[in-house]
Amino acid sequence: TIIVDRLGNGHFSTIQSAIDSVASYNKNWVYIYVMAGTYREKVKITSDKPFIVLKGEGQKNTFVEWHDHDSSAESPTFTTMADNVVVKSISFRNTYNNNRNANSMEAAVAAMIFGDRSYFYDVGFFGLQDTLWDGQGRHYFKSCTIQGAMDFIFGTGQSLYEDCTISAIGANLGPGIIGFITAQGRTNPNDANGFVFKHCNIVGNGTTYLGRPWRGYARVLFYDTKISNIIQPLGWQPWDFAGHEDHITFAEYGNSGPGSDTSKRVSWLKKLDSSTVSKLATTSFIDTEGWLNTLTQL
Ligand SMILES: *[C@@H]1O[C@H](CO)[C@@H](O)[C@H](O)[C@H]1NC(C)=O
Repeated sequence: TIIVDRLGNGHFSTIQSAIDSVASYNKNWVYIYVMAGTYREKVKITSDKPFIVLKGEGQKNTFVEWHDHDSSAESPTFTTMADNVVVKSISFRNTYNNNRNANSMEAAVAAMIFGDRSYFYDVGFFGLQDTLWDGQGRHYFKSCTIQGAMDFIFGTGQSLYEDCTISAIGANLGPGIIGFITAQGRTNPNDANGFVFKHCNIVGNGTTYLGRPWRGYARVLFYDTKISNIIQPLGWQPWDFAGHEDHITFAEYGNSGPGSDTSKRVSWLKKLDSSTVSKLATTSFIDTEGWLNTLTQL
């Protein structure tokens, strides 16, 4: 167990120096506890550092902040490339556009996740455009908060988001600009990835679509989710794939709240039957091997 305390009362005063102290190709779980406070640094778990549990003192108590922008790959405040990673009770913010300021809006990623078998519990992600790059691998987000306005949950991850708060702050885009919550990147019809939101809560200001396809076979399901009145009646946009909407799987099932009315949605909204929905909206969508059992017990 490694303690990080920015005031100097731990083993390290920065999170990155604690991660750097873990041996490459480490095989045993290493706990890194980050005491409350705001850590102004970029943090990266490279692919040779698996089996790390990074744990703060609460989503509202331990913050990691940086302010890079422009390049999605270079801007993230937090990057994790390793398999088998657990992150708990901590928030990552890209301060370039969050809080809103005079900066023009640019891609400014708060977290980029490219490892397989990753579990996030009680984690906050704060940005405006491209907040959470759910890039690749199987991921479980439980009781997390994701805030942004433009394509702010994007990528090719195979992910279940359960009991999460989606904070869509479209009002920060300025008058007349409509946001997008998701931009999912599934590229081929047989790819296993997609974003499933289960039992989440969509709140915020301004107005937003639920998503648009970043790639041609994008797949997103909102299930049993409370949706506030900020959603555009059409719900979704085809972006570069107009004319090929039949390849896209955008679905809504069993949601509630004023934004959940699907009567004015795009005609190509996918109608999934309940057995397909129950296959997607369960942990077996991301785990048929039992890895999640191990990670959620750490
Ligand atoms: C939208 O909500 C966010 C989060 O609560 C807040 O910081 C922001 O000021 C709001 N924007 C406007 C224009 O009201």
